[in-house]
Amino acid sequence: MSSKKYTIGVIPGDGIGQEIIDEGVKVLRAAGDNRGCSFDFVPFDLGAERYLKTGELVPDSVLADLRKLDAIYLGAIGDPRVKPGILEKGILLRIRFELDQYINLRPVKLYEGVGTPLKDKGPREINFVIVRENTEGGYCGMGGVFKKGTSDEVAVQEDINTYKGVHRCIKYAFDYCAIAARKDPSKGKKVTMVDKSNVLTYAHDLWVRVFEQVGREYPSIQTDHYYIDAFCMYMVKNPEWFDVCVTNNMFGDISTDLGAMISGGLGVAAGGNINPNGVSMFEPIHGSAPKYKGKKVINPIATILAGSMMLETLGEFEAAASIERAVQKAITSGRIKDMAAGRMGLSTPEVGDLVASLL
Ligand code: IPM
Ligand code: MN
Repeated sequence: MSSKKYTIGVIPGDGIGQEIIDEGVKVLRAAGDNRGCSFDFVPFDLGAERYLKTGELVPDSVLADLRKLDAIYLGAIGDPRVKPGILEKGILLRIRFELDQYINLRPVKLYEGVGTPLKDKGPREINFVIVRENTEGGYCGMGGVFKKGTSDEVAVQEDINTYKGVHRCIKYAFDYCAIAARKDPSKGKKVTMVDKSNVLTYAHDLWVRVFEQVGREYPSIQTDHYYIDAFCMYMVKNPEWFDVCVTNNMFGDISTDLGAMISGGLGVAAGGNINPNGVSMFEPIHGSAPKYKGKKVINPIATILAGSMMLETLGEFEAAASIERAVQKAITSGRIKDMAAGRMGLSTPEVGDLVASLL
């Protein structure tokens, strides 16, 4: 049992962000109380409201404060009053990049009792993780436009792949796999590389070569390779083939939404933006759902599971596992009718209370 105290930055963000983060904080406090760790939750007001009032996204002084934290817990970013791209780039991507959270870890895990649209597949078949590179690729914002708005317009947006970025991402995937194998002998067998090296013969050839190089350092881990299009197909047809999958930023973005859908929807899908040597940030994969704001109908389980991932990354394995078990019990209790927003049969705080009571 640990007696550590963690300083956690809390960014509720926009839309339903506050409602879900409140439940996540509730469950974290309760889990910490049971396991002897505690939290100092420091709120950060970042999001559309602040931007519309002051023009600020993440001021440098705030960034400096974020760097001092043990971890960040994020609700959701996005608001219909702000042009798409501004909040995403100015807040979410800025924090990911500035804190060098170079991994986006997204489990695709179907819990017992959660419905999947995949016929004849269950929790045994749908249980893998996608390791998404999180600081490069098409997300760097490099490029430009020439003759904008004319019929001669040229738009270039570059896809950045560096040896360092690719190497540390693939290395993380193998290490993650090796650790998973130690925890659960049924897991940790295979790392699957996902790319489009048949077309992106420079950029993704780098990924393939680094994958082979790193793979040789882990002789007990099998390796496998799919092009992204085929990967999407097999995620639906044979999800049981996958264990740890590694891919670039954009393909990881897209495939993890598919992953969320096959594992019960955005109500349960969580992710972590991880800097293994720095400050990591945990969030539900879903957005800010502005139309549901204040209605308390959003499922907080994705956020609660993101909290469990946060504890895991902080090394609080017991407390992390206790949250996952409580979520599983809450689901199997049958009290949550459906994982989707508005169909839970319980309010957002009632689901939080239920999970906290089962810890
Ligand atoms: C995600 C989101 C973000 C991304 C957007 C909001 C910038 O879709 O976290 O998956 O593309 O990474
Ligand atoms: Mn996305």
